[in-house]
This record gives sequence, C-alpha cells and structure tokens, in this order.
Amino acid sequence: MDKKKYDIAVIGAGPGGYTAAIRAAQLGKSVALIEKDDVGGTCLNVGCIPTKTLISNAALLHQMRRASLFGIQAGPIAVDYPKMKERKDRVVQRLRGGIQGLLQANRIELFKGSASFLSSKEIQVKGEQTFVIEASKTIIATGSIPLEPKAFPCNHPRIVNSTSLLELTEIPKRLIVIGGGYIGCEFASLFREFGSEVTILEAMPSILALQGPLVAQFMTRTFTTQGIRIETNVFVEGVRVEGNEVVVSLRGGKEVRGEYALVAVGRKIFTEGLQLEKAGVKTTDKGAVSVNADMQTSVSGIYAIGDVTGKEMLAHTATHQGLVAASHAAGSKENSDARAIPAVIFTLPEIAMVGKREEEARAAGLNPTAVTFPFQALGKAHASMDTEGFAHLVIDAKSGEILGATMIGHEASNMISEIALAIQNELTVESLIETIHPHPTLSEAWHESALLAVGHPLHLPPGKKT
Ligand code: NAI
Repeated sequence: MDKKKYDIAVIGAGPGGYTAAIRAAQLGKSVALIEKDDVGGTCLNVGCIPTKTLISNAALLHQMRRASLFGIQAGPIAVDYPKMKERKDRVVQRLRGGIQGLLQANRIELFKGSASFLSSKEIQVKGEQTFVIEASKTIIATGSIPLEPKAFPCNHPRIVNSTSLLELTEIPKRLIVIGGGYIGCEFASLFREFGSEVTILEAMPSILALQGPLVAQFMTRTFTTQGIRIETNVFVEGVRVEGNEVVVSLRGGKEVRGEYALVAVGRKIFTEGLQLEKAGVKTTDKGAVSVNADMQTSVSGIYAIGDVTGKEMLAHTATHQGLVAASHAAGSKENSDARAIPAVIFTLPEIAMVGKREEEARAAGLNPTAVTFPFQALGKAHASMDTEGFAHLVIDAKSGEILGATMIGHEASNMISEIALAIQNELTVESLIETIHPHPTLSEAWHESALLAVGHPLHLPPGKKT
C-alpha cells in the first residue's frame, strides 16, 4: 500500500485540528491533515458559525421590531427564512475557503478520508483512495457528535438535532426543545425571536442548571417574559410522530405536542473507526482520550485535543489545546496554563462566564465575595436601549484578586475577554479600577463592579451592594 511520510499528522480539521496543523507547519514541520468531511469541523459547518449567523438575523429582527421606540418607522417587516439559510450557507462556504487557503499557504497537505490507526506511527486513510501515513507524531482532534438517546433517535424530519435543525427551510410554528442547556437555550431564543411558539423541556430543576443559580434564574425570567414556555423537572422518555405533529412523552405519562422537536441533550465524544487500541491510546470509561497538561495521551508522540478529550466542549478550548499540542510535538513550548476559560451562550441577551462562580470558589476553599452591577445604571445602556443585564464579579475577599465573572446582556460575549485577561494574569479589583474604561460604553460595567466591590460605586447610591 502507498505510504506517505510526515513529521506530524493531525486527525480532524475542526478549530482544534486545523490550528494545530498551522502551528506545527509554522514551526517548520511537514504536516498531514486528515478530514472525512469539510474543513472547519462542527464549529464552522454545523455549530458556532451557522448558529451565530442565524442569531445575527434574529438580533437585527429584534432591533427592527422596536425601531419605533427609537423614533424610526420601519414599515411592515417580513422574514424570508430560506434567504437567511442561504446567507448562513454562504458564510460557512466562504470561511471554509479561507481555511483551505490558509492550509495551502502553510504547505499543509489536506487528505479527505477517514483515519484509523494501524500502529502508534501509522495511520490508514480511507477516502477515494486508501493509503497509509507514517508520522513521527499524531494529534487526534476528532471532536464530538450530538447525543441521540436510544429511546428517541432523531430519525424523522420533524425530530431534529442541532445539525439537522440548521437544514430546515421553514421556521417551525411550534418547536419543542428537549434539554435546556447551551444548545437548547440558543435555539429556543433564536426561534422565539423568529416567531415560533417554543417550549423547553428540561429534566433538571431549572434551565441552564449547570451554569449556576444566577444565570438560571435570570434567564428563566427573561425567557418567560419573551414568551418561551419552560417546563422543568420533566424527563423526556420518547418522541413519536403522529400525522403532522411530534408527540413528546414525559415520565409520568404526560404528553407535549408540537410541530418539530429538537433533541439537545448533550454531545458525545467521537472516536468511531479510529482504532485507538491499535495505537495503544487509553480512554476513560466515558470514551474520552486521556491527556496530560501538554495534551499528550498515554502513548508517547500521540496527542489529543478538543472535545475528544472530554473536557470543556468549546471551540476556543480546542484551539488553545491545538496550539499547546502542536508546539510540544514540534519540540517548542506553548504556555498550557489556561487559568480562565471563557464560555458564552449566544441567547438574546448573551450570557458570558469566566473563572469561578462564588459557590465554586467557596467549594475550592477560597474566601470569595461577589458584587453585581446592573446595566440599568449605565449611560450607554440607556442610549442604545440595552438596559437588560448585569456584570457580576467574584473576588477574593482578602486580596481582591478576581476569581470569576458572569455577564448577561448585549455584547457580553465581547466584554468577557477583559476579565479572562484579568484572571489569567492574576489581577485584582484595583487593576480594574485603575484602568480607564472608555465612556460611554457597556464595558464600564466592569469598572463600576470593581468600584462597587470596594464600596465606592459612582453610579449607584452609597451603601448599595447588590
Ligand atoms: P448541555 O449538557 O449543555 O445540556 C443538555 C441538557 O439536557 C441538560 O440540562 C440535561 O439536564 C437535559 N436533558 C438530558 N436528558 C434529558 C431528557 N431525557 N429529558 C429532558 N431533559 C434532558 O448539552 P447541549 O446543550 O446539548 O450542548 C452540548 C455541549 O456543546 C455544551 O456542553 C457546550 O460545551 C457545547 N456548546 C457550546 C456552545 C457555545 O459555546 N456557545 C453552543 C452549543 C454547544
């Protein structure tokens, strides 16, 4: 069989894999990148980018609907969903082309096919042709796929997962969302804005339960005000189709009917067909590839990054890990000490979090204190009518070191980076106070939160400590 030799092979061209390939090439290595589908992985093709493209449409629609509050008469507004889908597909297509260009410019060889280990140094690629790649080092970046419970597989056009939902060419009139986590809440928010009747069914006592009570309570109130129906402590046991309806059956016998059902109950690690055992790579009982801080697996010379490692399933985590793994594999060193991993849920309004929540800091033996500053008290929030939301800082009560933050509100996704930088560099509230924040901006919420933490907020009455 034809054999090709490379310094480094990367399996999977998602945000972890393709960045790892680029970094390895930048460090002078010959690189083979193996991908069975399109470059860009879940994030670009069926995740972050297409959903955020549609969410941009929803945000614009939201603004247009309230145009009259700004003194603008917009006239009748019509939504052309097939056109929105076309735009989404074009954005994805363009970005795929961008990645392909970058791979070429970095002289990375992209092979289309499915990879499986023959040994720790040999990988078979099955595509249009079958051949073997011999690589001194390999980086596994095969990601994850939507979890489909056996009791209700997504096997009908009206029972969809986060991937097939993106292919709809119509807006569901009545959408049932099974699972009130990241994916469930993002799609619930998106389609509610487009006018769908949305019901979230969540097994836990609240939606976004894993994000803590501050986020869960605020978003429950917000979604309810927006007209999203939320049923918690309900466990979905089955979904069937009756005529034009989906019927979701709950434990206890109750049924909920809708037009479409979105199954958003988590994602599972994807290592199918990799034959990890032939390379000797160890996995956990959940199937995740075990790694150390440098992203090395149990086998010397084999690394794993991103969702397949079973850590945070976030594109930017995969990217960071890709840089760490590629640098290590190329004999260089990238700082692997990620003290602060921001996470964003792109609902309307956005939810952004980084570092420890107050209860997590306490459980870790720290002595935290927390403050919350409302967007209502910001001039810019009134100017742009974005008064919904808050900035919340968790700090060490003694040293003032910033331990964590949560922001809900307009552009929270962009503003969380300031606190990620602060946590990564062990900064204190004093650092935030001493930093001049531009006025008028929503980022002043961080400055005011820091001032609130030391008891001197400028735009809240004295003695107020929310
Ligand atoms: P998730 O773990 O966030 O939420 C799944 C929810 O489904 C949980 O609240 C769970 O209690 C509920 N559930 C499970 N089985 C159920 C049943 N039978 N009946 C009712 N409720 C049930 O998982 P999700 O939303 O699928 O997202 C997967 C991962 O993808 C996330 O953990 C996140 O890391 C990543 N992601 C990140 C995004 C971002 O960064 N903006 C966007 C989307 C996904």
